[in-house]
Amino acid sequence: MPPFRYALPQVLVHWAAALAVLFLLATGTLVLADLPNTAQKVGNLRIHMIVGGLAGLLVIARIAMGRRMAAPPTLPGDRLARAGHVALNLVVLLMLLSGAMLAWRSGALDAVAGGGALPEDFSRFMPRRVHGLASRLAMALVALHVAAALYHQFILRDGLLSRMRPGGR
Ligand code: HEM
Ligand code: HEM
Repeated sequence: MPPFRYALPQVLVHWAAALAVLFLLATGTLVLADLPNTAQKVGNLRIHMIVGGLAGLLVIARIAMGRRMAAPPTLPGDRLARAGHVALNLVVLLMLLSGAMLAWRSGALDAVAGGGALPEDFSRFMPRRVHGLASRLAMALVALHVAAALYHQFILRDGLLSRMRPGGR
């Protein structure tokens, strides 16, 4: 019989990645985007880049594990759910790539590594536009994902959330 739930490493990686992505989406929009590019911003950007790189690595680990570990049995609406999960993974990878391009091209990477100043404004760099648009797409996908999880749990009552719970059956 296929396992009812995700394996423990998949569960741990899911919640670590979820925390990182929610933190990045919230602080990126509410804090970073509004700060002028002074020297004080460098510390904030450093945290954003480290957590962002980590989120990207966790998604790559998630994809690698998904190919090796047995998936739980299908549920009604499974093809839609799988498409949603692929989209979530892809949008985080796009955030990683556009963020890395932006940091490299704008000189922010040098500033964060200890040399050089931040550019006056990120908005004239094309990857900044991609990063900003992708972040809105990521917010919409995460909102849909959470709504779907709650719908399964409380309306369909199929115990979906417990597939992503550590321990037990
Ligand atoms: C914070 C609220 C969240 C809740 C309540 C939640 C809940 C769940 C649940 C219950 C599943 C299992 C679905 C199934 O069995 O088919 C799941 C899977 C998944 N979730 Fe979330 N999730 C959350 C946040 C996130 C975030 C922010 C991301 C984006 C990175 C994400 C990405 C995924 C992916 C890609 C899967 C597929 C399983 C895998 O490949 O590991 N989730 N989520
Ligand atoms: C992987 C997940 C990531 C997420 C979810 C994320 C999220 C965000 C968000 C929401 C914003 C603000 C966008 C806006 O309001 O228009 C932002 C800005 C930014 N991010 Fe990321 N980011 C990620 C990764 C990265 C990485 C890996 C880097 C660099 C190595 C990076 C560098 C930046 C920079 C330089 C800004 C511009 C800040 C500004 O305009 O002042 N991000 N990010």
